[in-house]
Amino acid sequence: MSRVTIDPVRRDAEFAAIIAHAHAYNPTVGITGGLVRAKNWFAQLLEGSTDAVDTLMQSIARDTRHADVTILRVRPQNTRRLGGWSMAYAGEWNYTAQNIADVFGHGLNVDEQKIDRLDKMIVDFASA
Ligand SMILES: Cc1cc2nc3c(=O)[nH]c(=O)nc-3n(C[C@H](O)[C@H](O)[C@H](O)COP(=O)(O)O)c2cc1C
Repeated sequence: MSRVTIDPVRRDAEFAAIIAHAHAYNPTVGITGGLVRAKNWFAQLLEGSTDAVDTLMQSIARDTRHADVTILRVRPQNTRRLGGWSMAYAGEWNYTAQNIADVFGHGLNVDEQKIDRLDKMIVDFASA
């Protein structure tokens, strides 16, 4: 999860560039994922080998298009939950916006239940 820092006039172009990069790069290292955005927040779920995810996270953490990059949860799993998506992206969608607002309405004060909801929301929209 992170906070968007892109100048509003550049937002659409930068979001498109981020997704294009993910579509090109993620399949080459076996990463699948989902990204949602609401107002000034990004929330992303990445799945793949520990090495691949760690390497990508280093790039993502350096990216100046967002700040306060926070890893909410890391856990082992045997099967993928995001199927064939190199990066499923839900832009400013009412459903996700409302959910993210509910989850993060009070800033970075997150708890396990909120993370569960966010996690489920990303998996749900990616399988819709
Ligand atoms: C919220 C967010 C999510 C991102 N997700 C991905 C991703 O899944 N895959 C990807 O290749 N780049 C992603 N990027 C872009 C990376 O941060 C970075 O620009 C890209 O990996 C190139 O990094 P490099 O210059 O270190 O090679 C994301 C950026 C942001 C802001």
